[in-house]
Amino acid sequence: MNLTQKSIIVDEIAGALARAVEGKRGRAALEATVRFLKEAEPRYTWVGVYLLEGDELVLGPFLGKASPHIRIPLAQGICGAAARAAETIIVPDVNADPRYLACSLETRSEIVAPIFVAGRVVGEIDIDSDLPDAFDPRDPELLERAAALLAEQW
Ligand code: SME
Repeated sequence: MNLTQKSIIVDEIAGALARAVEGKRGRAALEATVRFLKEAEPRYTWVGVYLLEGDELVLGPFLGKASPHIRIPLAQGICGAAARAAETIIVPDVNADPRYLACSLETRSEIVAPIFVAGRVVGEIDIDSDLPDAFDPRDPELLERAAALLAEQW
């Protein structure tokens, strides 16, 4: 499969996501996005949204095992790092990254994409996979499109 074909697939998924989120705002839009992403991609073992409140990230809607990390200080975790850097972070091997806060022992890789409203990080989409090195360039592209859709419905 070449890059152009990969982009077409991301376009198709992002289009279906836009239809799933259409007409929903706020928490309903977050819930619809989490549900859509979880169902769309079997590699996504845990899908959730964290919302920035002061200097903490607070867990919003999620699907997957309950996480012990309901509130994450910005100084901690892959989640904190992505919010501070204001960029998507992919960790192909969570056990090799000292920033990693474990949610489930089965988790092997993680991707976190910030959500920007008016140029500021307001939250992020966090996805864990039980597969090692589960993410390729399509995943940040899809999550950044999902984050942009959420920003429109914020
Ligand atoms: N692994 C994240 C913590 C959140 S759980 O994965 C749900 C981190 O390192 O920030």
